Amino acid sequence: MFDHEDALGGLGSNADLLVKLDSVHAALRERFPFLDRIACAIYDPRTDSLRNFLSSGPETPLAHYQAKLSESKSLLEIIEARRPRVVNDLAIFRDGRHDHTRKIGAAGYRASYTMPMYSRGEFFGFVFFNSFEQDVFSDEVLHQIDPFGHLISLTIIHDLSSLRTLLASVKTARDMMHARDSETGSHLDRMSRYARLIARGVAERHGLDDETIEHIFVFSPLHDVGKIGIPDDILLKAGKLNEAEFEQMKSHAGKGRELIDVMLGNFDLAKQPHIDVLRNIAELHHEAYDGSGYPHGRKGADIPIEARIVAVADVFDALTSRRPYKEAWSNDEAFALLRQLSGAKLDPDCVEVLIGNRAEVEEIQRCFGEDPLGA
Ligand code: C2E
Ligand code: SIN
Ligand code: SIN
Ligand code: FE
Ligand code: FE
Repeated sequence: MFDHEDALGGLGSNADLLVKLDSVHAALRERFPFLDRIACAIYDPRTDSLRNFLSSGPETPLAHYQAKLSESKSLLEIIEARRPRVVNDLAIFRDGRHDHTRKIGAAGYRASYTMPMYSRGEFFGFVFFNSFEQDVFSDEVLHQIDPFGHLISLTIIHDLSSLRTLLASVKTARDMMHARDSETGSHLDRMSRYARLIARGVAERHGLDDETIEHIFVFSPLHDVGKIGIPDDILLKAGKLNEAEFEQMKSHAGKGRELIDVMLGNFDLAKQPHIDVLRNIAELHHEAYDGSGYPHGRKGADIPIEARIVAVADVFDALTSRRPYKEAWSNDEAFALLRQLSGAKLDPDCVEVLIGNRAEVEEIQRCFGEDPLGA
């Protein structure tokens, strides 16, 4: 009675998305051995950036890949048509100027099936099916692959939407408490993108996959959630904090961790894969590379990489923004201080990536400029 093994049973597990994608891929490959690669890319409409998110197969020619969607004509056509696209001979793209197309071709793929993913009518990414063989995606095959494409899409939506709910509830809590410190709105938009930029730059060295990079991006806006517990007269003080006030201010790191643990319990997300990234960001973003930080005085590699990344993103944005207690610095001034802090307070690899990608930093600043409140 129980002889049949459900090849997709793992989809209901607590495994991360890549494991789930691998299991769908394995199930599909039993029927279609030529299906060599399945990959998913996620779209950020606010910056028009399309990023590799998950990839299952022998090679990941697009690891840490990111591009402007508006620059990929062939992908834009798919969204305009709101239909999947079959290319049974990728040679037609050989002269394509788009980097993505070239990389897929250079990795030896000869055919592709690309499905756009929609959630509540909004485009949010692509699923790519690729084969090393030409002419494999017949109508018959596509009819059988389609439900799997939707399965992948729904699995991603399900995973990301619980995180979105969590983020929205934190935002609501802040709004309701009028905890309107300077860390609202555009500060969080910018610093989370600096964090993503740094994460991508140190990914090879620290073994971060694209799913982890995306989690660092999504979670970094919560780094200061513990400031909800800091009284306004300290948080919004127009001048320098005295020692006692700063001691109290420092408790925001531990408070943030506690608050996040409570929320994860309430939302039943405590065992969500990658959720330690969130805990570590809230608790450890003021630890210093040389051990002089708080709350624990951890040092170097004992500080999780996500916390070291967020520290650099946070300090850089704090410096280049106006705060109740300081004016905004120029990028040159801020980079100069980061250089000074590199290896002391801040992780040198993370500082180097940020400073080395000035054009992208400035683009983020253009996209997410100061709002009228100076946030
Ligand atoms: P924040 O405003 O988000 O600043 C984050 C971090 O950026 C600071 O962590 C610090 O490492 C760096 N940073 C910001 N502005 C400056 C600056 O002018 N010079 C230098 N060298 N570094 C800067 P830190 O110091 O642990 O402070 C944590 C939080 O405490 C700050 O978050 C802010 O909310 C509050 N805070 C710190 N100093 C003052 C202050 O003098 N007055 C007031 N009202 N709040 C302060
Ligand atoms: C990003 O989305 O990571 C960068 C933002 C931008 O390119 O404008
Ligand atoms: C494209 O860039 O549209 C072609 C590459 C692919 O289908 O993965
Ligand atoms: Fe903080
Ligand atoms: Fe901050």
